[in-house]
Amino acid sequence: MATATEPRTSKPKRTLQTKLLIDGKFRDSVSGKTFETINPATEEVLAHVAEGDAADIDLAVKAARKAFDGGSWRKVDARDRGRLMNKLADLIEKNFDELAELETLDNGKPISESRNADLPLVIDCLRYYAGWADKIHGQTVPIRGNYFCYTKREPVGVAGQIIPWNFPMLMTAWKWGPALAAGCCVVLKPAEQTPLTALRMGELALEAGYPNGVVNIVPGFGETAGAALVAHPRVDKIAFTGEGRTAEIIMKNASDTLKRLTFELGGKSPNIVFADADLDAAVQGALVGIYLNQGQCCCAGSRLFVQEGVHDKFVERLASAVNGRKLGDPFDPATQQGPQVDKAQFDKIMSYIAKGREQGATCVAGGERHGDRGYFIKPTVFTNVRDDMAIARDEIFGPVLSVIKFKEIEEVIERANTTEYGLAAAVWTRDIGKAHAIADRVRAGTVWVNCYDVFDAAAPFGGFKRSGIGRELGEKGLDAYTETKTVTIAMD
Ligand code: NAI
Ligand code: MG
Repeated sequence: MATATEPRTSKPKRTLQTKLLIDGKFRDSVSGKTFETINPATEEVLAHVAEGDAADIDLAVKAARKAFDGGSWRKVDARDRGRLMNKLADLIEKNFDELAELETLDNGKPISESRNADLPLVIDCLRYYAGWADKIHGQTVPIRGNYFCYTKREPVGVAGQIIPWNFPMLMTAWKWGPALAAGCCVVLKPAEQTPLTALRMGELALEAGYPNGVVNIVPGFGETAGAALVAHPRVDKIAFTGEGRTAEIIMKNASDTLKRLTFELGGKSPNIVFADADLDAAVQGALVGIYLNQGQCCCAGSRLFVQEGVHDKFVERLASAVNGRKLGDPFDPATQQGPQVDKAQFDKIMSYIAKGREQGATCVAGGERHGDRGYFIKPTVFTNVRDDMAIARDEIFGPVLSVIKFKEIEEVIERANTTEYGLAAAVWTRDIGKAHAIADRVRAGTVWVNCYDVFDAAAPFGGFKRSGIGRELGEKGLDAYTETKTVTIAMD
């Protein structure tokens, strides 16, 4: 049995920021409406947050446009944009504990993850892009004739940024880092489940000294606030992270205004264990791959392919490790797994667990709710999974692992690629030839060899196929927020 502790109600230590950030001021929504955000560990209401809709989006876009179009932001030197971003990173470090607790409160993720993963990655991402601000170079181009030709990279303009609830602060940093370094103005629409840390980051952005209108934040729902941002004629670009079906809607709605689009979407990532692997390391990698953040990761290693010869031994070790995981109060520093983010996600995951059983897979660990308060689901492992089962095909976005047996390398490459997704993959082997073959032939934006979930602000991340368009992080991540301008000057 997974060990468990009761969730405690943790009260935030300071008054929460619950208003919209528009043009450097926090304000109520035009409609005056609010929505609730809850603590998923206790199901209690944490705060009522101003609910933005089309009218608020319009005000935010106008403010961003004003700052961008010859306004205060265009006059800030590139190097000073970098300094501002480092200042924001300093303020996040200064308020580290408060931000980590707020993230855990609103999202439910274990405090150890907020502290050791989310916050450090947020700070690193901002510092990384702060360094890029004055290094976004153009080229001189040797064209025919007596001309001087050069390119420069200009900010794309006003960027609408729509993010999900699984890594609320980190997704904010991934969006703000390259956009603000490149000189764009932003309107951020946080997920309705988790608006609190983005709003606190907005306060810190003002404290850091970002001019009015450069950073705007409009919490609200996707169909209202999100859709209005996508349709707004004065928004140049939409960067979206979330579900593929939402991306389809966004692409249609953005087509009238031909906006630039980048998408970071879901996955059903294969995690492949060969018989020659270091099995202890592979078990740990399988656990991180699927259970990090309660399984709510776009790159979750949810299809675990294990080679025939070691399959049974591997499953045994895996199940015993899974049953030893500590589930419960996200504020307990020893907790490894907290609740799912909300009831909708909880219900979706439980229905997949039921489908797994109905379709004939064997549940060897978990498979049920934990406790009767909060959206906790025991870490779950299915074996005897066939490729055509729902639990092997669909993104579940929860702590549910499908273990699939395979015989040889050609077969596993083909089966790994039999998915509409292509975000990530991993391989565990001591054979360098097998490692290269998987890295070369699995169609995914990231391949990890003998590791999983290794993220770095310098390394591009994004998807093949239905997992996305474009890349975030690294130098590549700047492409989404820059236009290339070619200037040709006659020399005589
Ligand atoms: P979602 O894609 O609906 O929501 C993500 C963001 O998009 C939120 O800010 C939401 O308000 C906004 N949004 C929703 N509809 C919109 C629209 N018509 N126009 C503009 N913005 C819109 O994802 P949701 O409903 O929260 O989760 C559903 C499933 O999506 C999950 O179970 C999971 O499978 C997947 N998902 C994948 C994520 C990833 O990182 N790849 C993140 C979140 C969810
Ligand atoms: Mg949705």
